Amino acid sequence: MDIKDKKRILITAALPYANGPLHIGHIAGAYLPADIYTRYLRLQGREAHFICGSDENGAPITFSALKENIDPQEVIDRNTARLIQGFAGLDIQFSHYGRTHTPHHAEICQEFFLRLHERGHVVKKSGEQVFCTVCGRFLPDRYVEGVCHYPDCLSPGARGDQCEKCGRPIDATRLGDPVCMVCSTLGRESRGHIEVRSTDHWFFRLDNFSSDLRGYLDRHPEWRESVRRFSYGLLDQGLRERSVTRDMEWGVPVPLPEGKGKVLYVWFDAPIGYITFSREYFAARGEPEGWRDFWQDDSNGLVHFIGKDNTVFHAVIFPGMLQAHGDYRLPDSVVANEFLNLEGDKISTSRDYAVWVNDYLATFPPDPLRYYLTAIAPESADADFSWRQFQQRNNGELADNLGNFIQRNLTFCLKYFAGQTPPPEEPTQAGKEVLHEIALARHDMAEALDDFRFKAALERLMRLSQRGNQYFAEEEPWRTRKTDMTSCARTMGVGIRLVEALSVLMAPFLPGSAGKLRNFLNLPALADGDWEAMPPPEAPVGTARQLNAAQVLFPKFDDLVIQPQIDKLRGS
Ligand code: 2FM
Ligand code: ZN
Repeated sequence: MDIKDKKRILITAALPYANGPLHIGHIAGAYLPADIYTRYLRLQGREAHFICGSDENGAPITFSALKENIDPQEVIDRNTARLIQGFAGLDIQFSHYGRTHTPHHAEICQEFFLRLHERGHVVKKSGEQVFCTVCGRFLPDRYVEGVCHYPDCLSPGARGDQCEKCGRPIDATRLGDPVCMVCSTLGRESRGHIEVRSTDHWFFRLDNFSSDLRGYLDRHPEWRESVRRFSYGLLDQGLRERSVTRDMEWGVPVPLPEGKGKVLYVWFDAPIGYITFSREYFAARGEPEGWRDFWQDDSNGLVHFIGKDNTVFHAVIFPGMLQAHGDYRLPDSVVANEFLNLEGDKISTSRDYAVWVNDYLATFPPDPLRYYLTAIAPESADADFSWRQFQQRNNGELADNLGNFIQRNLTFCLKYFAGQTPPPEEPTQAGKEVLHEIALARHDMAEALDDFRFKAALERLMRLSQRGNQYFAEEEPWRTRKTDMTSCARTMGVGIRLVEALSVLMAPFLPGSAGKLRNFLNLPALADGDWEAMPPPEAPVGTARQLNAAQVLFPKFDDLVIQPQIDKLRGS
């Protein structure tokens, strides 16, 4: 069954590494579209659960601990608290936010690993790994960097797990000019003492699932082209077995006697986190078996939202793992976004070249960012965040189009209809056309949202509001109010109906503002199913309902608040 027709859906967003704070790239890449989708489904009266949590194992965490000279536990505690704060500040609301560094998660991962092991899909092999003779340790993943070994890439600074430039998985023993990142972090000579040594590891026989995975992709022609192209590309190159253990202390211990001193690779445990957190969430709701509906029953939906660098894990490896385990169904969709750049340059955590969510929130409300990041969503190509454009689009679109239309109607009624919506009147033909336009916009938006085209849905919303402004200008209620109060009430009845509709249709994108608007309108807070409950075009307008005092919903941003943000970036 197509995901569009499913009534119950579990949504996940990539588990953020608990080794640093959130920036706008993370938000645009996974969390914001997932949040919009979840809110939309609920408004439609569909059941939606939004699962996420911190990715707390693996080299990214221990590497941060090493850099800061603190315990990994301190790293994850501090960052998980910050992540939660950032998400809440942007109104990104999870049904459950878990953590992977817990005994519960370890148990679930170990069961998963043992099942694959029993079935012969995980096998032990002695393999080559890079080893630093100065540190006296193996160098898993980002502990080593060098020149990417793909002949058509050859970028420097490729990490031992993945090349950031071409996005493909790296075999650390084949990196050119390898550098020990421990030594380099501690200020020691980092070249020239890296050897390739042999060590035992467990490998997931991903190659056993090549034809299953090809069949899986074939069944999903509706997925984004970028995800399909990338995944077919990997299949065409031939899938290889992949090491799923590491010589490290921090993480989920390998549950075999010969696995002492080794842990499961973070990219093995992290996606299983989606299952762990689903289980925790349903258990907390008093439905301990509820998670199975989404992970084991094809009549319900499962959708992953990710940034494009995570595509290989979600569209190929994790489905392969689920298939290998045998008890699970495969996700309906993997929605991957391209990258978000910043003022024409790549966002870089290490150079502190980013717009950090918590910094943003110190000056601005959440909705303008939610608006702008959706308006430029990197759905099919990389996008660029620019502070000037953020300002222009906030001032010119949110404030001058949507905000203005809402404000004009509310202020007019507050002033000339004694603080009420107009009395019931039959709309004119022009008014009826506008009412019809609401139904059309709702339909088009639903079509786009069901298809994960968030940008198009938002554009459609803004066209509706533009249409409202045009209607208001053409009808000139400020003039008819003096000559023909009935005609004025007809216009304003339609106008208010449109504002009421906007309070529903904008809610997935701009939830805080939609909430305020509902209050100005003296309507109850939005509830599940309200998208469907919107009145049809032929329903009478004008309810003579008391309104509440209204404030400006979308203030404009002055150069004085924007310029310091630009200066801050220039300084970094
Ligand atoms: O790229 C990242 O930030 C990873 N922590 C995403 C993990 S997603 C999942 F599979 F858990
Ligand atoms: Zn070293």
